[in-house]
Order: sequence, then C-alpha cells, then structure tokens
Amino acid sequence: MYQKYYSQFLQAPSGAPSSMLHMACHSHHYWPDVTLDAVQQYWHDAAQLADDKWGPIFEQKIPAWQAAVARTLALPQPDRIALAPNTHELVCRLLSAFDPGRPLRILTTDGEFYSFARQLQRLEELDNVEVTRIAKEPYATLAERFEQELHRNDYQLAYASLVFFDSGVVFPQLLEIAACKPARTEFVIDGYHAFFARPLDLGPVADTVFFTAGSYKYLGAGEGLCFMSIPKDCNLRPLNTGWFAEMAELEDRADRVGFSDNWLRFAGATMDYSTLYKGLAVFGLFEREGITVDRIHDHVLAAQRRFLETMDAAGHPLLNRQNLLHHDLENGHGHFFTFDCGTAEKSEMLQKALKSRAVLCDRRQRLLRLGFAIYHGESETYRQVFA
Ligand SMILES: Cc1ncc(COP(=O)(O)O)c(C=O)c1O
Repeated sequence: MYQKYYSQFLQAPSGAPSSMLHMACHSHHYWPDVTLDAVQQYWHDAAQLADDKWGPIFEQKIPAWQAAVARTLALPQPDRIALAPNTHELVCRLLSAFDPGRPLRILTTDGEFYSFARQLQRLEELDNVEVTRIAKEPYATLAERFEQELHRNDYQLAYASLVFFDSGVVFPQLLEIAACKPARTEFVIDGYHAFFARPLDLGPVADTVFFTAGSYKYLGAGEGLCFMSIPKDCNLRPLNTGWFAEMAELEDRADRVGFSDNWLRFAGATMDYSTLYKGLAVFGLFEREGITVDRIHDHVLAAQRRFLETMDAAGHPLLNRQNLLHHDLENGHGHFFTFDCGTAEKSEMLQKALKSRAVLCDRRQRLLRLGFAIYHGESETYRQVFA
C-alpha cells in the first residue's frame, strides 16, 4: 500500500534483485519519491535567488517545518524548535551554556548513542565535569533506578534516550520521569529512534524538557536536518553561538551578545537547507495521503508480529527469541529488532549471508539490527531472512 511512494528505490534500478528487503531502515529510511522534486526545487531557489533565498527559508520554510514537527509531537510552540545539521551540534550548544567555572554533574545511561557518549567521555576529562551512568539493564527497574538517582543528587543535566539505539527498547516511563524532574536540572530526551516511528505526545513535558531528533531516520528526508525543542522561558546563554542566532537583528546589531526568546537562542551558522525542502515534501505527502505516525506504527507492529511468527517457526541458530534484546515487544519497543549474536565475527557473517539473500541490515559489533518500515509490504512474511 505504501510502497508506491518509494518506487525509485524499491524497483531497484541499479540492478539489485527486485525482491530486495531493506531492513537497515532504522538507520537510514529510504526517501519517498517526492524528495527528488524537492531537491531540484532547492537547487533552483538557491541558485536563482542567491542571497535572497534566506527570506523565504526563514520566513516560510522553517516555520512550516517547525509547525509540522510540532503537530507530530504535540508541541505547543513551533518557534521553540531549533534546527541544525545534526543533533551533536545542538547538544554541544546546550552543553556550552553551563558555566565552565562551576561543577557540571550529568546523569545519563550506559546506552546512549555514540554521538553523545563520546562527547561525554571527552568532557569528563575536565576537572569540573562528573558523569553518572545508570545501567540500562535490567530494563524492568531502569525507571526506578534512574528516577531515584535524579532526585538523590544535584544534577545540572540529565540525558537519556527514549528508544535505545542498540536494542530498540523503549526507556520505561521516561516521559513521566522527565515531567517530575527537579527544577534545577535541565533534561534532554534523545528521541531520534522515536520521532516519526512511535506515536508521541510531548505536551506534558514540552515546557520543561529538551527533545532532540532528526530527519535521517524514520521521516525519510535524509541527513542534514535535526532539531531540538526548547523548554519555555529558557534563559541559557550558549557559549557556542553562531550568527544565525542574531538573524532578526542583523541590520541593527547591538554591541552585546543577545539571545532571542525562541529557537534562535540555539541557532548556529550557515547550513545547507536542501533537507528542509525534502522534509517539507515528505510531511506534505503524508498529510495529503492521510499517513499518520499512528498508521505507520500499526503497520510496523503488524510487520514485527509476522517476522516473529516466521522466526519462531524457523529455528535459526542466531535469530531467535533467546538472542532478541527486548523488554516489552508489544507496547515498549522501537521499529527494529536487535539480536545478540555472541561475537562480532558471527554477526558479521550473518550480515554477509543476509546480504547474499538481498536482505540489507546493519550491526554494531556483536549486535545485528533488523528494521521495519512502511515500505515493507503488508503481506511480507520475512521468509527471505530465514531461508
Ligand atoms: C539515539 C540516536 N541519537 C542520535 C543519533 C544521531 O546523532 P547525530 O545527529 O549527532 O549524528 C543517532 C543516530 O544513529 C541515534 O541512534
């Protein structure tokens, strides 16, 4: 039903087998066909309007994109959604707002994506930075352990993924924990594996937490456009600040560094906006066709059930229930399954074997990840994976 929107990829023009099964979608979703026209439109606007392109981009395109993101996540104020090419830039900008001369205590988990985990390791080398990592497992007690620690100590920043990148497990009750955070603690939810995959209502936390995600994965608009929603009355003054943060005052610049009370507080500098055009095209397509996140999620849940049925009957030595990382598959899981293959060699061999059967997936050392997308057919049984 949804495959018709992705014909450029699924018809495999490059000579790949037509039965190719793209299960690396949790990393990079294929782009709907409408993104091709969007890129061409960007080329025309950028080339023809030259410097005058910034007017339409800042006055029309960015607000339209922010409004679409806000509708998706039930965020009340679209102009509090900051844009940057990746989430690392936004998170670094936030980190730079803490006074380097004072202690910076950070609470997080041991399951964060490399982008943040590496940055944190480097920051930890500074004398004033102290990091507490709560073990993500066992998932059944994660919420309780994280919340207790959040209130036990004086943390300036708490940071956690809503869906863990290495397992697909949803952090149980993370939104509830964030809603009751101490006022002194800034709270960041890394929502990359949740955005445009799982239905989300951020309304209850929108005024108090930061939420990051981007276009590369489930939205299917490609790399180059990420966002961070900002709490209400945020008065942080990032040390890392670019000239776009002053977009509104360029003609009459003040001598001091001022910050707007909207997303521009966390703005950086010149970037390529082709993904903004692609993202708007995807939002437009889905809106016209009535494709909502609820429908996408239902489609994926049904696909995951069919996969599990096939798997349970297959008796595969590695792809089986024992090796599947999970906590609550029906209600608390993302749009991919992770299998612990025991060693990196075994997972690499399995990935190669799957590729030879035209099943594309990815792996992180010994963990093999298989993702589900709306461009998988409604009657797909995933037998090809277990053949
Ligand atoms: C949980 C999570 N957060 C963030 C990112 C992306 O990070 P960045 O935007 O810094 O490249 C990924 C990418 O795979 C991810 O899985």
